[in-house]
Amino acid sequence: MTEPTDLAVPLPPKVRLVVLFGGQSAEHEVSCVTAAHVLRAADPGRYELAPIGITREGTWLQSDDALSALDAGSALLPARLEASGVEVDPLPAVRAGADHLPVVVLPLLHGPHGEDGTVQGLLEVANVPFVGSGVLGSAVCMDKAMAKTVAQAAGIPQCKAFSLTAAQGTAAQLAAKAETVMALGSIDFPVFVKPANLGSSVGITKAHDSDELVTAIEAALSYDDRLVVEETVAGREIEVAVLGNSVTSRPPRASVPGEIVPGHEFYDYDDKYLDGAAQLLIPADLPPDEADAVRTLAVEVFLAMRCDGLARVDFFYEPDGRGWLLNEVNTIPGFTPQSMYPKLWEATGVSYGQLIDELVALALERHDRRAGFSTKR
Ligand SMILES: Nc1ncnc2c1ncn2[C@@H]1O[C@H](COP(=O)(O)OP(=O)(O)O)[C@@H](O)[C@H]1O
Ligand SMILES: [Mg+2]
Repeated sequence: MTEPTDLAVPLPPKVRLVVLFGGQSAEHEVSCVTAAHVLRAADPGRYELAPIGITREGTWLQSDDALSALDAGSALLPARLEASGVEVDPLPAVRAGADHLPVVVLPLLHGPHGEDGTVQGLLEVANVPFVGSGVLGSAVCMDKAMAKTVAQAAGIPQCKAFSLTAAQGTAAQLAAKAETVMALGSIDFPVFVKPANLGSSVGITKAHDSDELVTAIEAALSYDDRLVVEETVAGREIEVAVLGNSVTSRPPRASVPGEIVPGHEFYDYDDKYLDGAAQLLIPADLPPDEADAVRTLAVEVFLAMRCDGLARVDFFYEPDGRGWLLNEVNTIPGFTPQSMYPKLWEATGVSYGQLIDELVALALERHDRRAGFSTKR
């Protein structure tokens, strides 16, 4: 595999970088921390920074505190930004400053109303370049049921799974249905039950028997009206960072693979954000041909899911079984310097600051390309 060296497209001399953070999700907190890191790392000679905090209720606020801290020197930035400040209207806020500088929006928002295509739709309508996948790629990857359908159509290997909706009955009725499907598909307990549309392990339960299955389905249905049931994979958790645009002069590239060693029974919310018991092993200890295979597969997944910009593609690895199985794709992966995505790139030769530059360049490239399409018939 070739390692990245220079930018996809040269950056304009100065860009106004609108950093969206906070948001209406369980990952609000981590997003506030990420934004502080990004503001500190972005080259002030290259970027005019415009942080906008989104509250848990969805109000957009121009973060004047963060701006004045930045003016006084990025060392004075707090470790974590607050979604506080003067309320702004989303559309004018993302376009502001476009009269004197090219604008790029960086949505550092995880989960629903940020990673799921909704904010991306707003930015498309505003005609502003933004970092990451567009409406379709974001929405497909956010919905675990739809992502499985798309992956299956693309011939990507996955574990045995099926989906159910609230329209099919009560939790007890869904559990009975699930057990029938499990018997037909030779899926044994324990199974993972997940709401289709969420992240950071929220609403996910490992159900060990029929009783736990009902409770797990109830839990999942409190977050979404669609859920997936999966066999439990006894495999290692290997993740690959992908960087690039789907349709581009330079195709997406894959980082070295990394491994998550969960500290709890599975890689749950506490592991991810609270006690940090999970370990990240970078690069993952894999035979070279297996490392190459998963890098190639990660790019295939990125293309099949219509991703752009960045995505972290998560796999299970069964060395003595089926080999590589796709778990999920995160279109806005954790992005603090300690997160898997930036660390994978660092290990592949791209620093945190370079990563920001590359993502901005990719956003501009994608926007320019799409702006060139004919609107005549
Ligand atoms: N089918 C499965 N088999 C074994 N472990 C699983 C399975 N699905 C999820 N897990 C465990 O649960 C964690 C969270 O599940 P995941 O689907 O990645 O949800 P999220 O989108 O919240 O990250 C995974 O990192 C893994 O540790
Ligand atoms: Mg995950």
